[in-house]
Amino acid sequence: MKGIVFTEFLTMVEERFSLATVEHIIEAAHLPSQGVYTSVGTYPVEEMVKLLQQLSARAGVAIPDLLKAFGHYLLGRFVRGYPGFFAAHASTLDFLSAVEEHIHVEVRKLYADAELPRFFCERVSDQTLTMLYRSPRGLADLAEGLIRGCAEHYRENVRIERDDESAGSGTQVRFTITVETQAPSTGMEASA
Ligand code: HEM
Repeated sequence: MKGIVFTEFLTMVEERFSLATVEHIIEAAHLPSQGVYTSVGTYPVEEMVKLLQQLSARAGVAIPDLLKAFGHYLLGRFVRGYPGFFAAHASTLDFLSAVEEHIHVEVRKLYADAELPRFFCERVSDQTLTMLYRSPRGLADLAEGLIRGCAEHYRENVRIERDDESAGSGTQVRFTITVETQAPSTGMEASA
């Protein structure tokens, strides 16, 4: 896993919890890297799992919820770091449809050894996209947080259904993402 994912994760922990929490989880996790990450370095994904376990124990928040929150946060960081990727697409579903063949392809050019998931997308209708996530790292919760972050960026409400096709391991998950359309305002709603 690229160092940038670790440095962003630790920044989120510092912002949402505290610097003391960052120091505590690094120490308690007994990491080969000792928690020193450079954005271009590559580190075992097990270090992320250990950091998540320690944060979960300390903060009393389940690991899937931490991963979803981190995905949401990370998307916000990507918006700042790579604004061109987002400007090139007009909506949540258009952007998500481009992750596999455009965005992660560019990511691979920046980080040749990035360990990326595979996405198989199908646009079912104007409002609905299915995204099949596949990765041996089983980070579907991170993907869900990233998807929610995208919807927030494009200011759209989405409904996300999840089907785990890997007996709960999170290594193959089908997301069905539907953009909720809002009835146009008549201007009469507040007439009571
Ligand atoms: C501008 C947008 C994006 C950028 C720059 C980006 C970049 C990256 C980078 C650098 C990694 C780490 C690779 C590694 O650790 O070796 C990664 C992994 C990942 N990305 Fe993206 N990504 C973007 C958008 C998305 C979106 C929208 C999704 C979800 C639909 C997504 C899903 C994932 C997941 C789940 C992983 C973790 C690796 C795995 O599951 O195997 N990414 N991405």
